[in-house]
Amino acid sequence: MLKELLVLLITSQFLFSDAITPIPLNPDYDKEKAALGKSLFFDQILSIDGSRSCASCHHLPGSGADNIAFSLGMSNHATSINTPTVLNARFNFVQFWNGRVETLHEQALVPLFNPKEMGESIEASIEKLNKSKYKEKFENLFPEGVTKDSIAQVIEEFEKALTTPNSRFDKYLRGDEYALNEQELRGYKAFQNQGCISCHNGVNIGGNMYQKMGIMIPYDHTVDATSIEGRYAVTGRQRDKAVFKVPTLRNIDLTAPYLHDGSATSLRDVVIDMREHQLGILEEDKSIDDIVAFLKTLTGESPKILSGTSE
Ligand code: HEC
Ligand code: HEC
Repeated sequence: MLKELLVLLITSQFLFSDAITPIPLNPDYDKEKAALGKSLFFDQILSIDGSRSCASCHHLPGSGADNIAFSLGMSNHATSINTPTVLNARFNFVQFWNGRVETLHEQALVPLFNPKEMGESIEASIEKLNKSKYKEKFENLFPEGVTKDSIAQVIEEFEKALTTPNSRFDKYLRGDEYALNEQELRGYKAFQNQGCISCHNGVNIGGNMYQKMGIMIPYDHTVDATSIEGRYAVTGRQRDKAVFKVPTLRNIDLTAPYLHDGSATSLRDVVIDMREHQLGILEEDKSIDDIVAFLKTLTGESPKILSGTSE
């Protein structure tokens, strides 16, 4: 029995040994389009009343999200789900908590025209851009000038530049065995052995599958019914209720509060929630602090495009 367990442990460690891969050091993206996308990301011109930009909810440089449970959009309407980070979004297999769009290209236009976010119409956005300093910039890059598609393209290229390489954990994965201290290494082992890694893996340590929140022990949702619909809103299948894209754990130390409903205010709280609802572990022990220490090693370098060096 003991021997079998040992074999199981060793093989599962083997299976998971390359389950997480480091963030590539040099992201590919079109520099000129990304620079224009960057200006738009920070510009309130695209919101209906000139009060919001993408950066109002996705703070950059910084976490790529904000530090409140629900962001405030047009007329201070709260969004119905916690704002995820835009950092490393390019590595997610689909966008949004419920995966309702697949590509960053499609995603880029959604907040612009969402009445709760920026609330503008496409025609009005194009007209405004054509009356602004941006007209010439678009015409230099696109023969057709400002169109729905060219707006999406420049924002997409900027989002592609938003990667955060060289976290201490990535240095460890690349072979620097001293990059993590003893507690952090214990945390990484616990992350593997307790089963976190079965949902949080791949380059984004998440972002590559859907899973139910409350798979072992049902989760008592703290907010209104709309945000807990999860994937159900897309598929209409009962079993997709409370199913979400597994979020990335990259830079997780920066993006409190956590979960789709923003109900977990600290890393410690969310680790306890995950152990309970996703793994059925109810007892609290010191591996919780080890896992928290490990999660803090996932903070990478700020994207180069934000320091202006690649403009
Ligand atoms: C009012 C706040 C707000 C504004 C303004 C806003 N967003 Fe978001 N963003 C959100 C929320 C909330 C979500 C999650 C929505 C969902 O999953 O249903 C989100 C999701 C995203 C995602 C998907 C990330 C993931 O992991 O699924 C990206 C990328 C993104 N926004 C980029 C942008 C861009 C680009 C702009 C500007 C054009 C923008 N956002 C404007 C609040 C905002
Ligand atoms: C069965 C799959 C599964 C397992 C196992 C799992 N998670 Fe999660 N994790 C998820 C899902 C799904 C969410 C999003 C849930 C929500 O927002 O309601 C999530 C959310 C999180 C978040 C919050 C992310 C954010 O941006 O809000 C953290 C941190 C986290 N998990 C860490 C862990 C740790 C640590 C473990 C192991 C103790 C673990 N997870 C085990 C699927 C899983």
